[in-house]
Amino acid sequence: MDKILVTGGLGFIGSHTVVELQNEGYEVVIIDDLSNSSEKVLDGITAITGKAPIFEKLDLKEKGKVEAFFAKHSDVKGVIHFAASKAVGESVKEPLMYYENNIGTLIYILKELKKLPSVSFIFSSSCTVYGQADELPITESAPVKIAESPYGNTKQIGEEIIKDTCKISPNIKAIALRYFNPIGAHESVEIGELPIGVPQNLVPFITQTAIGLREQLSVFGEDYPTSDGTCVRDYIHVVDLAKAHVVALGRLLKNNNKANYETFNLGTGTGSSVLEVLKSFEKVSGQKLNYKIVDRREGDVVAAYADTNKANDELGWKSQLTLDDAMSSAWKWEQKVRALE
Ligand code: WQD
Repeated sequence: MDKILVTGGLGFIGSHTVVELQNEGYEVVIIDDLSNSSEKVLDGITAITGKAPIFEKLDLKEKGKVEAFFAKHSDVKGVIHFAASKAVGESVKEPLMYYENNIGTLIYILKELKKLPSVSFIFSSSCTVYGQADELPITESAPVKIAESPYGNTKQIGEEIIKDTCKISPNIKAIALRYFNPIGAHESVEIGELPIGVPQNLVPFITQTAIGLREQLSVFGEDYPTSDGTCVRDYIHVVDLAKAHVVALGRLLKNNNKANYETFNLGTGTGSSVLEVLKSFEKVSGQKLNYKIVDRREGDVVAAYADTNKANDELGWKSQLTLDDAMSSAWKWEQKVRALE
């Protein structure tokens, strides 16, 4: 079966995607610099699939190391590129670090892909590229708005770089997957989200509050024009998201793509408010959550949820797991991680 490189393969979405790639029979090579992940994740992946992926610790900012990697693995048929910094708030404080890490490394990888006879490239993009969309649900043809953060800008620029590269490199076929809000953990409780430090995202903050690691959850604003005043997002189970990557890769490897560069939204198509997410957590965990309403968080959009028709019709992929499934798996994972400490 084809050899697939997964950069950032020890991260949250990366590790879940490696599991699904191995389940599909692919040979997986992981590159990760361990800046936002742990080598222990390899054990979790192996515990699930029974196969240890090849792992190479490598900083993609080191051009020479990237060249050497591809010289050694010139039989790579597909690349799924997760490796990037992804904290919106941090990107505002450290823009150059974000442009170097998210754009510089993408360029190094694409330069190596140009040398291969034929390669499929899946890019980890984000619904952040849409900003506050004018219409909901959001389709792939919604206009890309001025980015609200350097992080979001690196995703927009990354997509443009890939599009322009594919135009002059017919040997590269690419798909950008625009994720909505990935949450949850694998049902085996062997892998899950491992935020370093204080979580920026809602769901890990909920589970860390419930387990007693955080004092109280702050809900950022209750005066938005939504059903209950709190922001609405499209929370997609990370396992559904991982499976979508395998489907998208298969589309390219089998030459079923309609163009050399395509984009797909990956969401459930349903929006959930912050308070609805809290209620789901309390229902599946039986825990009462300690939270308070505070001021709005700068940069938050009011609502974002996906129009999933293109992914359903063209990829033949649809999310299967529910918000409750995701919250239940996230809680089980949190309990396991804390029990191991
Ligand atoms: C969700 C909702 C918050 C924390 C970001 C990135 C996106 C992707 C996912 C990387 C918002 C509210 C949150 C808290 C809260 N990241 N919230 N209290 O901002 O939609 O998306 O993470 O790819 O690109 O933009 O996700 O989980 O931070 O926030 O009330 O402690 O939860 O205001 O409405 P977001 P989030």
